Amino acid sequence: MSADPAAAPLFLRAARGEDTERAPIWVMRQAGRYLPEYRALKARHGFWEMVRTPELAVEVTLQPVTRFGLDAAILFSDIMTPLPPMGVHIEFAPGPVFEAPVRDAAAVDALRVPDAEELAPFVGDALRLLADASPVPVIGFAGAPLTLAAYAVQGGGSKDFADFRGFLRARPEAARALLDKLTEVTVRYLRMQVAAGAQAVQLFDSWAGLLDAPAYRAFGLPYAQRVMRALAADGVPRIYLAVDAGHLYRAIAEVGADVVSVDWRRPLGAARRELGVGCLQGNLDPAALLGPAAALEEEATRVLREGLGGPHVFNLGHGILPQTDPAAVARLVDVVRAFDRRRARAELPPAGAQPASRDGGAP
Ligand code: CP3
Repeated sequence: MSADPAAAPLFLRAARGEDTERAPIWVMRQAGRYLPEYRALKARHGFWEMVRTPELAVEVTLQPVTRFGLDAAILFSDIMTPLPPMGVHIEFAPGPVFEAPVRDAAAVDALRVPDAEELAPFVGDALRLLADASPVPVIGFAGAPLTLAAYAVQGGGSKDFADFRGFLRARPEAARALLDKLTEVTVRYLRMQVAAGAQAVQLFDSWAGLLDAPAYRAFGLPYAQRVMRALAADGVPRIYLAVDAGHLYRAIAEVGADVVSVDWRRPLGAARRELGVGCLQGNLDPAALLGPAAALEEEATRVLREGLGGPHVFNLGHGILPQTDPAAVARLVDVVRAFDRRRARAELPPAGAQPASRDGGAP
C-alpha cells in the first residue's frame, strides 16, 4: 500500500470513498461463458475443477482483465464454494443443485463450521498467485448468509424461493441457527481471502430483495452486518450487493458497507440519497449490452452522469448475460474511460435546470 493516495489503484481509491477523476470499471460475472477463451477452457474442465485448481482459477480470473483492461479482477469461484466443507454436497448444472436440501433443525445441527484453513485452501492459493499475477486489485467475495441459506433450504435456484420463505416462518429458530453457522463460515472465509491478498471484498446478497423489510431486518440485515463488522479491522473496502432491493434501502444503509452495489431499477442519484453510503457501484442494465452501440453509449453515459453525486465504481446492475458479445464490453469500457467526471460536472446545467434523468432530479 502506498503512502501517496493518488498512487493507489483507481478502483481502491473510489471504493475507499474518493471522488475519482474517472469512474473505475469492472463487470459482475466478468469471467464466464460469454468469453470464447472461457468456453475453450470449460470444454476441457468441469466448473468445480476450474474453481478448485488454482492455476485454472487464476487464468480464468485474468481473462477479462487482459482482454478489456478492467480496473479490478474478481476471483473466479462461486458463492457455493464454502458449503461442501460444511457437509453440503453441490453440483452445477449450470446453476447449483443440492444433493440434500437443509430443511429442519437436525440438518442444521449436522452442518460443520470448519476452520479457515480447511474451508477452501485452493481459494487462498489462487489469491496468493493473483497477488503477483494481476495488474489490478483483486476482489474476494462470498455469498451473504441469507442468500446462502436461501439456496441451502430451497435446494437450488428458484424464481421466488417459496420453500425458503416458508421455512423462515415455519422454523424461525432453525433458520437463525443456520444463519449463525453461515455467518461464522463467511467471516472466516472472507478473512482468509484478505490474508491471502484480496484487496476488497464483495458480499453477494443476490436474493435479499425477495424479502419484505421486516423479514429482511430479522433474517438478512443482522447477519450481513456481522460479516461487515468482523471485516472492519481488515482494512479492505467492503462491497454489499442486493438485487431488486430498493424497498430495503433504509435497512441496507445500516449494513455497514463501504460500497453498495445498486441494480438498474434504482437511479444512482436516488440510491445515493437513500443509502447515505460512501461509494456506489453500478448500475447499467446488463441487457444494454445486447442493444446497438449508440444506445449502449447513451445508457452508459446516463449512468455515469447519475453517478456524479459522489464516489462511483462503474459496473452492471447484476451479472453479465451469457449471450453478450464481448465487443460490446470493449465499447462499454471505452465509454467509461473517456468520461471525465470533473468536466462532466462543470458542464451540468445549474441546479433546478437539469434535463430529466431517471429519477427526475439532480444526480
Ligand atoms: O464475477 C465473476 O467473474 C466471478 C465469478 C463468479 C461466479 N459466480 C462464476 C460462475 C461469481 C462472483 C459468482 C457468484 C454467484 N454464484 C452468485 C452471486 C452473484 C449473482 O449473480 O447474484 C450466485 C447466485 C451464484 C450461484 C450460481 N453459480 C448460479 C445461479 C450459477 C448458474 C449461473 C448461470 O449463469 O447459469 C452458477 C454457476 C456459475 N458461477 C458459472 C460461473 C461462470 C457458470 C458455470 C458454467 O460455466 O457453466
